[in-house]
This record gives sequence, structure tokens and C-alpha cells, in this order.
Amino acid sequence: MEENLIQKTAQAISRSNKVVAFTGAGISVESGIPDFRGAGGLWEKFDPGEYATIEAFRADPKKVWAMLKEMGNLLESSRPNAAHLALARLERMGHVRSVITQNIDHLHQEAGNTKVIEYHGSYRKLICLRCGRQYAKEDVPLETLPPLCRCAGVLKPTVVFFGETIPSGAHLEAMEEARNCEVMLVIGTSAGVAPANQMPWVAKRNGAVVVEVNLVSSEITRHLTDVFLQGPAGRVMHQLAEPVVQRLGV
Ligand code: APR
Repeated sequence: MEENLIQKTAQAISRSNKVVAFTGAGISVESGIPDFRGAGGLWEKFDPGEYATIEAFRADPKKVWAMLKEMGNLLESSRPNAAHLALARLERMGHVRSVITQNIDHLHQEAGNTKVIEYHGSYRKLICLRCGRQYAKEDVPLETLPPLCRCAGVLKPTVVFFGETIPSGAHLEAMEEARNCEVMLVIGTSAGVAPANQMPWVAKRNGAVVVEVNLVSSEITRHLTDVFLQGPAGRVMHQLAEPVVQRLGV
């Protein structure tokens, strides 16, 4: 990857305190979590039509919970990688102001980012489909599936399934951040799932520079991206944060 692209991007970041990151599954691959649509991705193993729609969940929550439990164990044992840590470092230096993530893995928060918009919800919170009561995942034993609320309703993670709407709070907050950023770092997403994938377009329409980090080009690369940094997110984000740190001499 061209060194001058890294330097150019690092300069843009170090001159701004309005950098927003928009992340997808690709940023967590180096933490051992497969993405969805890549080779060996989750949707190769679990058909999304059978496991990822709200209709499928309502029709057979026990079956879908078997996948969720397996994923939960993997997420529980995963740790932030160099890409997550670089974003947290750029926040501490006053450049990154928020992270809009499609991921449910809580790794941005574990890395130290304090403003994380979980656009597709979280695996760490459960909600009752009957009474709406919420639970922390660690308070709900998963020996018997599906887990039930004290009202006997079925519990579901607050993860947004296909066919469900994005929580309005998360959507409005993400739009606000996208509208007001000067640089948007789009990291590890195929940018094919709506409405999340409109965030880079909103940023661009409001004058932001769109920097994309991915192993391969995505749905936005040809149409929208200003700077394409091709490579694994861990390495690229680490390379990006270093010159910013040096500029600040911290
Ligand atoms: N570094 C950088 N990019 C990577 C890496 C890596 N190490 N590994 C994979 N990628 C890229 C892939 O090339 C791909 O473009 O990450 C992207 C992952 O794309 P998807 O699997 O489609 O995941 P994502 O974009 O997050 O999916 C969006 O779809 O299934 C739903 O709700 C789910 O939030 C998810 C949404």
C-alpha cells in the first residue's frame, strides 16, 4: 500500500477533531470472529433466511438460539485487535469523536472507545418479545433454550435481525455523527446492508473525506471512496495511527 496515502490520511486525521469511524465485521476478523459474506463467513455456515430474520426467530427460537449461543461463546472469548486499539487511541488524542458500528461484539468499547453507536444492537443485552423487559446476558442462564422472561415470553438478544427496524435512537445519533464529520473511516464492511450503508453517503454529501480500509473493494469503493487503503484493518489502522501519534509527540 502506498506510504503517501497513509501519510495523506494521517495528516487529514491529525488536523481534525471530527473523525467518525463506520465499521463492519471485517474489523473484527483479526480478533477471530468470521465476517458474514467472505470465504468461511457466518452466512456460509448458517443460512440467513433460516437464522437471521425475525420471522425465522419467531418461528423456531430454539433453533436460532443454538446459533446465537455458539456465536455468543466466540464473542465472549474474543479480544480487541490492533484496529480497535488504534481507533481508541485516536479518540484519546481527540481526533475520533465516535464509532458507528454494525458489529454486535462490544470490541470497540473493550478497546476504549467511549462513544460507540451500536447500529445493529448488541449480543450482551436480551429483550423479552412479549413484555419488552431487558436483561443483561450474564444474568440469563442458557442451559435451556430459548431462554424465557419471568413473564414466560421468549428472550432475544437486542441484535437487529433482518425484518426488524433499527432502534430510532441509534439511527438518529448515527445520522447526526455522519452529517457532522470531516473524515469518515469506513473499515471492514461490504457496505451492502441498508440502512446502515447510507452513513458514508451522508458523510460525503456533507463534505467529509471518505477513507476506506478493506482487503478488497466494496459497494462504495468505485462510487464514493476518496482514499482506498487496501489491506488488513489491524495493520492499516496501526500504520495510520502511528504518524498521528508522532505528529503529536505523545
Ligand atoms: N481487514 C479489513 N477488511 C476485512 C478483513 C480484514 N482483516 N476481513 C474481511 N474484511 C472485509 C471483507 O472484504 C468485506 O468487505 O470486511 C467486509 C465484511 O463484509 P460483510 O461480511 O458483508 O459484513 P458487514 O459489512 O459488516 O455486514 C453488514 O450484514 O449480515 C448483516 O447484520 C449483519 O452487520 C451485518 C451487516
